[in-house]
Amino acid sequence: MAKIIGGLTTSHVPAIGGAMARGVQNEPYWKPFFDGYLPVHKWLDEVKPDVAVVFYNDHGLNFFLDKMPTFAVGAAPEYHNADEGWGIPTLAPAKGNLDLSWHLIQHLVDREFDIVTCQEMLIDHAVSLPLKLFWPNGCPVTIVPICINTVQFPLPSAKRCYALGKAVGEAIASWDSDKKVVVIGTGGLSHQLDGERAGFINKPFDLKFMDSLVNDPEWATKYSIHELVEKTGTQGVELLMWLATRAAVPGAVRKVHANYHIPISNTAAGLMALEAV
Ligand code: DHB
Ligand code: FE
Repeated sequence: MAKIIGGLTTSHVPAIGGAMARGVQNEPYWKPFFDGYLPVHKWLDEVKPDVAVVFYNDHGLNFFLDKMPTFAVGAAPEYHNADEGWGIPTLAPAKGNLDLSWHLIQHLVDREFDIVTCQEMLIDHAVSLPLKLFWPNGCPVTIVPICINTVQFPLPSAKRCYALGKAVGEAIASWDSDKKVVVIGTGGLSHQLDGERAGFINKPFDLKFMDSLVNDPEWATKYSIHELVEKTGTQGVELLMWLATRAAVPGAVRKVHANYHIPISNTAAGLMALEAV
């Protein structure tokens, strides 16, 4: 059976792509952010996952307001990245893992998750940038992207995203394969890009949330979506991806590394690597 080696969570601010393209990772603004990934590179070199299941939120690129699935699972042979207009370079397509996609889809439907299955799916900065941050020299893993709606209300609750993550973890563990799987969650942490509270950041909440993922993973499920928006900002609610990721890694975890840096763009940038024990 497949093995879940752990979870990786990171912010996905589009400006990261521009910084990588310009090669300014060592400039004072960017260094505390990019340095955070070095211990994760070391860990990935040791554990060498074959496949990544990626919880992310689309930003209006593949799904728009006319058709907005709550949960969507990719089942495509490859996932093309498309520039959304942020001026970031268009990164190479990511290779899909069809066998795991269909196994996951079957398991999730059996567990009564009414998902949308996508045999064509464009990915945006929420998938392409984390893959580039974790594997700057080229992505060695095939992927299964799982999209959670954080764009158009109503959003799925934290409790529901946790349950989805748990079911995804069960599905991976029952996949008849000798592959090593890492679960990735991208988004957050606290940020609000628009409106009266633009620039809103809540460091105490972010740190408490990161802490909870190690030993008390269900902690954030006690909050409603409106409470999470209040505490973390309208886009901070992307932390649902981190919650689903942690839920997918069964049992106890060892914190390999964490980094938290304010600000990148308008965002509290966070990173965690958790190893399944
Ligand atoms: C920013 C952050 C995001 O999560 C995103 O999707 C777009 C922009 C930002 O901070 O600029
Ligand atoms: Fe985002």
